[in-house]
Amino acid sequence: MISQDKIAEIRSRASIVEVISDYVTLKKSGRNHMGLCPFHGEKTPSFTVNEEKGIYHCFGCHAGGGVFQFLMQYDHLSFPEAVEQLAKRYGIVIERTEAGNYQRDLGERENLFRINERAAANYQRILFDHPEGKAALDYLQRRGVDEAIARKFMLGFAPQGGSGLVGLVKKESLALTDALKLGLVGQRNPQQYYEKFFARVMFPIANAAGKIVGFGGRVMDQGMPKYLNSSETPLFHKGSTVYGLHQAKEGIRQADRVVVVEGYLDVIALSQHGIGYAVATLGTALTVEHVRALSRYTKNIIALFDGDDAGLKAAARSFEIFVEAGLLGRAAFLPKEDDPDTFVRKQGKDAVEKLLGQAVPMADFYFSWLQKRFGSTIEGKSQTASEIGRLLAKVTNPFEVDLLIRRAADLGVREELLRRPVGSGANPRPMTASRPAPSAQPAAAAQNDNRDDLAERSLVGLALRVPPLLEKLAREARLRKCFSDKWGPVVDAIILEWQETGNIDIGAITQKLPEQLNSEFAALVLEAENRSDAECAKMAGDCLAHLQRKYLKTQERDLRIAIRAAEEKRDETAKRERILEWQDLLQEKRQLERQRLEPKPSPR
Ligand code: UTP
Ligand code: MN
Repeated sequence: MISQDKIAEIRSRASIVEVISDYVTLKKSGRNHMGLCPFHGEKTPSFTVNEEKGIYHCFGCHAGGGVFQFLMQYDHLSFPEAVEQLAKRYGIVIERTEAGNYQRDLGERENLFRINERAAANYQRILFDHPEGKAALDYLQRRGVDEAIARKFMLGFAPQGGSGLVGLVKKESLALTDALKLGLVGQRNPQQYYEKFFARVMFPIANAAGKIVGFGGRVMDQGMPKYLNSSETPLFHKGSTVYGLHQAKEGIRQADRVVVVEGYLDVIALSQHGIGYAVATLGTALTVEHVRALSRYTKNIIALFDGDDAGLKAAARSFEIFVEAGLLGRAAFLPKEDDPDTFVRKQGKDAVEKLLGQAVPMADFYFSWLQKRFGSTIEGKSQTASEIGRLLAKVTNPFEVDLLIRRAADLGVREELLRRPVGSGANPRPMTASRPAPSAQPAAAAQNDNRDDLAERSLVGLALRVPPLLEKLAREARLRKCFSDKWGPVVDAIILEWQETGNIDIGAITQKLPEQLNSEFAALVLEAENRSDAECAKMAGDCLAHLQRKYLKTQERDLRIAIRAAEEKRDETAKRERILEWQDLLQEKRQLERQRLEPKPSPR
């Protein structure tokens, strides 16, 4: 386990602006830095970083937290992994105490990574240095893959009789159960493990940080399946993994664009011919997660499709994905008979770049595809409207809704047809965005809940700015009881931190909170940051009064119920006690009202 002191040291040494700047372009704006949020698609910056407090928050998608949380969220690291990465960056040595939970989790993931890494190195050794690898090297050569590029992508070979993985795992005191989890081995009986990959050229699949999350293995003949891939594991999620991202990261930054293809060998061939900014989905259709992962590196995403019907269809489908991810995206098309691998080998880098230069905005492609597909008969227009309606349901940005509707109008689809409220038409499919329509009268209860929550969260933020408020909260346990189960523990954490250390370290507090609260916490800290001291003091008073009133009201209700219950049971003693409590409560209430009418002479 990494000691709390170490964690605090790393947090205080790390500059959150510096760390995040590696991934996001930040501009200073008042006390904060702002940029485009890497966690959702946006065109105007709502991603805010505050150096002094060491936190970030996106007012668009509500991602947020401290410097560790950023790395956890961005690079999908565990907490200790994030701590370690920063320690390394700032040259801080971590010595470990005995294992705790974090450490165990880290250990588990690390063990899995370790096995993948060892397996990959072993496959690679066999490919290059073992007689059995010769056939595979020849195969790669025939496919035009030279040695340097094979090494860059860490290619390897699993021979017919296996790579000796089971023995290797045992010898290095790694766990066969972990290898089983990773899908590298299968189990015939408790004693007997066998290798899943054999007689295949091995393509390790790495995450953005270069750690191996899984493998694809290709047969060298017509065998089936052509590629065998790792199953879903704690490290490997097919639908969100992008092949070649680690190798392409630098190229993507330089070119400020990325091209998405389908196959391992497409990425490799493109890279070998000087297109270093290509990545692949793992044979699956493009997903929103893919697009989001890529949009961290560039907003210029070009999907390269086959020129055949299947390719056109795939392109039309991916427009939807881009819309959902809030990005524009472009589509480029290969000649009918080629895939990127054959195309670049025949025609070279320039031809590929020319093709990419001709990429069309996804929306343009999509609308002309709709037109071609459905035509302009009444029937066709209705089908077009229905397609667009389905799409509109996925758009959250009103600006884009308008854009889509206008484009639809160009195709002769009337706007009313698309904006028709759900369920009002004869058409079986709802044609309008299915965002919840504002109900006529929001339930009063819900409104109250919101106001209560608002008061509480404001108080949490203000407690960090207004020392007398914090002191008051620390002193009066009764007041703390007014907080809901959501914010009560946060207030306690702040007070505890303050009492233990004499100051308020936002990062330390963040770490004590449940993960779901991190981002909201960061948001309210930043909100409080933007107010003047006087404003803060005034707000603190108002919110506190609101909270107390609410608390007294529920207390009063509970007492009334208790009194009635005592009456029913004819328990005079209990009744008298409750009535006395109730009178105290009324007294308190009156006092609160009086305070409200005559503000204190000096607020701070
Ligand atoms: P392709 O069939 O286009 O293969 O599948 P490829 O990558 O061009 O490979 P070569 O050129 O035939 O050697 C595209 C991607 O789909 C996935 C793989 O990720 C592959 O790279 N795929 C394909 C599988 O996972 N399993 C399969 O059986 C086939
Ligand atoms: Mn191919």
